[in-house]
Amino acid sequence: MKTFTFYTLILLIWTLQSCDFNKQSTPYQFPDIWYYPDELNIPSDNPTTVEGVELGRYLFYDGRLSGRTDPDSLMSCATCHLQRNGFDTGFDHPKFKNGKPVGLKHIPTHHYTLPLVNLVYNSNAYFWSGYINSHNIDSSFNLSPTFQNTNIESVVRLTILDPAEIAGTPEKTVAAIKNDPRYPAMFKQAFGSEEINMDRIAKAIAQFVRSIISNNSKYHKVLAKEATFTESEKRGMELFYSEKADCFHCHGGFLLTSNEFFNNAKDSLFTDRMDHFGVSRDSMDIGAFKAPSLINVELTGPYMHDGRFKTLEEVIDFYSEGLVNSEYAHPLMKQVAKGGVHLTDAEKVDLLAFLKTFTDHKLLTDPKFGRPEDL
Ligand code: HEC
Ligand code: HEC
Repeated sequence: MKTFTFYTLILLIWTLQSCDFNKQSTPYQFPDIWYYPDELNIPSDNPTTVEGVELGRYLFYDGRLSGRTDPDSLMSCATCHLQRNGFDTGFDHPKFKNGKPVGLKHIPTHHYTLPLVNLVYNSNAYFWSGYINSHNIDSSFNLSPTFQNTNIESVVRLTILDPAEIAGTPEKTVAAIKNDPRYPAMFKQAFGSEEINMDRIAKAIAQFVRSIISNNSKYHKVLAKEATFTESEKRGMELFYSEKADCFHCHGGFLLTSNEFFNNAKDSLFTDRMDHFGVSRDSMDIGAFKAPSLINVELTGPYMHDGRFKTLEEVIDFYSEGLVNSEYAHPLMKQVAKGGVHLTDAEKVDLLAFLKTFTDHKLLTDPKFGRPEDL
């Protein structure tokens, strides 16, 4: 009888605790968008919750991620990933060196920034090089030998610690975040206890980043039959999806990317070893980088991994008549031997008009993804 009571008591406590936990965190519902992939890239040890996403939003915008508290030494994700530029840097960072934004210590990032939209639908790899992928068990940057560079959680850790970015340390960053009296309760709601550590910081920010979904551009509305293109935009779309301009093989579909890697014939000499070759070791990937999604492309310049083009006009001129042939140019760059796809001036105008339909104006001011007002 005594044993029975003891076990009943344990069971009761356990039930109450799990009820308590369930009450605290609510599974986050991703929107059901029929034209986006069903498969979501979410690690099994970090399920998305409403509370986790909300905590992640605060941390994403919190300059104390740098482990510092004086106003001149703050840096957050939002310093380089600006909502008004589709979560890319655009030209709004206070300081650039060689076309790249600088981190807290005035060291430029190795590449130009990538935008943070629809990353939950990317089941392939992250970064221009694809370095962050499910096979990456490289431990060279690791905090612990078991840590792997496989997902957005890994990107958050690398970014917070990278001297060319937020330049924090695990101890200082955790201490600076702990300093704010509102966080312990928020960590409790998201993760079940008040403990604040780098792992939880990375998990919460990754949850927020995965919640950033964009599907309100004119392009998407037309596909959903909720808007219509102008004549010029329509001609631009036909070009984009034609063999003539041939953009769709690498940037097509609803996500405007296949998240794959190509050498798009910009150079004949390749010295950047943080290209896709650095990851795959396949010589066909020399000089290859991710074909980024073109969602919000109007706002995400400067363009390419090294930020070499300032405007979309320059990018179009490059594909039209600026291609450089080499043995590494991807076979899908079919007109590389002729130096480009050779568009007329009128075709360039139409193509540009079409690219501008990719801007999701709702995303740029949606308070769901914006800086918390009380931060
Ligand atoms: C100093 C500028 C800077 C800051 C601050 C910064 N980033 Fe980035 N971010 C970059 C650059 C540059 C890249 C591209 C890196 C590359 O691929 O070489 C990038 C890439 C990424 C990617 C990969 C996107 C993709 O499509 O592959 C993610 C995710 C990301 N950042 C998230 C974050 C988060 C979360 C934070 C805050 C913890 C953050 N970044 C802070 C500059 C920055
Ligand atoms: C063979 C694949 C391929 C084809 C075809 C292709 N692109 Fe690209 N595109 C890429 C890759 C790869 C990058 C990134 C290269 C880099 O950063 O070095 C890129 C980058 C871009 C960028 C810059 C995006 C950014 O955020 O920096 C734009 C804009 C662009 N392409 C538009 C087009 C247009 C328009 C066409 C058709 C005229 C086209 N692309 C055809 C692979 C391709």
